[in-house]
Amino acid sequence: MSLQPSSSVAAVAAHVGQTVTLAGWVYHRTEKGKLIFLLFRDGTATIQCVVFKKSVSPETFALAQQLTQEAACRITGSVRADERAPGGFEIDIQELELVGVSSDYPITPKEHGVEFLMEHRHLWVRSARQHALLRVRAEVIAAAQEWLNDRDFVRFDTPILTATAAEGSSNLFATDYFDLGKAYLAQTGQLYVEAGMMSFGRVYCFGPTFRAEKSKTRRHLTEFWMLEPEVAFATHKENLELQEQLVSAIVQRVLERRSGDLRTLERDTAPLERCLAPFPRISYDDALAMIVANQGEVEGASPLTWGEDLGAPHEQLIASKFDRPVFVERYPAAIKAFYMQPDPDRPEVALCADLLAPEGYGEIIGGSQRIHDPDLLEQRIREHGLNLDDYRWYLDLRRYGTVPHSGFGMGVERVVAWITGTRHIRETIPFPRMLYRIYP
Ligand code: 4AD
Ligand code: MG
Repeated sequence: MSLQPSSSVAAVAAHVGQTVTLAGWVYHRTEKGKLIFLLFRDGTATIQCVVFKKSVSPETFALAQQLTQEAACRITGSVRADERAPGGFEIDIQELELVGVSSDYPITPKEHGVEFLMEHRHLWVRSARQHALLRVRAEVIAAAQEWLNDRDFVRFDTPILTATAAEGSSNLFATDYFDLGKAYLAQTGQLYVEAGMMSFGRVYCFGPTFRAEKSKTRRHLTEFWMLEPEVAFATHKENLELQEQLVSAIVQRVLERRSGDLRTLERDTAPLERCLAPFPRISYDDALAMIVANQGEVEGASPLTWGEDLGAPHEQLIASKFDRPVFVERYPAAIKAFYMQPDPDRPEVALCADLLAPEGYGEIIGGSQRIHDPDLLEQRIREHGLNLDDYRWYLDLRRYGTVPHSGFGMGVERVVAWITGTRHIRETIPFPRMLYRIYP
């Protein structure tokens, strides 16, 4: 017997009363006299399987007795609907084939500390909770890309090895690049995706981005994935409308398609169901006033003087006043990136916004209208102490058919942490890179 699976666990409902072969791994095994219960997973779902001593050969029963956690096997048996079973179905096993042994699997059903689990991340990704989290991650990514593709956006891939800084020079990872000096791992694809925008009108890049941040918070990774749409002729206002529609669409699709995973994660879905566009907008100035008016509510959210950046506690306080994500717009230009368009009515603030997720998950999107005037852009590059020569190509975009344009970056891990209700971002990516972790 060496059959390819005739079904997947997720599809057994269509095979009630039939015999199927499934290929996968033993999640858990218990023995009760003449009965052995296997909780079996194949990546699509898990199902309870029963081995009756009297229904199988003595060899098969002996094999079932030896199966350990995470042993790989093929099972053949008949599918039975059973209301008491966890997924509504059970399999009565007739035949078993061991494909790969697993001895002393390190992650047992008992409680392990996070450090231990992180050291075993390569195995931890098989656990039910991690599996559900990473499934939601895949759904978020698919939902975002499909939503954009359906609206005439073209995916435009941007380089990871770059010559310049785009989001400040204090958090760059550098590496030697042959005779050309230093190369830096991209902090964003934005500057390059702006070149694509001038070719295609609506584009997005999606890939890993790198920040050598020495911050050891639950919201920071040194390598994270960012989706960055960029739209020609789009104003700041239109930029926010695109963001709220995209975020609502992602959340609603996860609710529709991954409800089982959200249940596994014990996520209260009521706050997600409310997450429909439009989202409220407040100005940076309103945010400062709100912080003063609600002093003492959130630890660390002390009043700020105009020009200071909001910290995580401030974001938490502001978000707690709304029942869905909230935009904080028009920050002081001085604390934002060099490429942001100043508000024509009030040049000390930028036409930008951060989107704050509810329930304390903080900033999930940062975006802005970009400077389209070549002289102003050049001036800003100088003011930020950046080397003009490095940005020659970027300035060219303003010399040849420049147009007002806007875009934003959505951090995938932050969005997944919020949607799944996961406190720490480290579980929302298969292999997190953080200040103190690069293994496995
Ligand atoms: O606000 P940021 O730095 O914006 C940019 O990089 C722009 N160039 C994007 C654009 O306009 N095209 O980052 C955008 C988002 C943040 O809102 C956050 O979700 C995520 O990227 N992010 C991080 N996620 C995890 N770990 C980090 N260290 C992150 N830094 C930013
Ligand atoms: Mg930001």
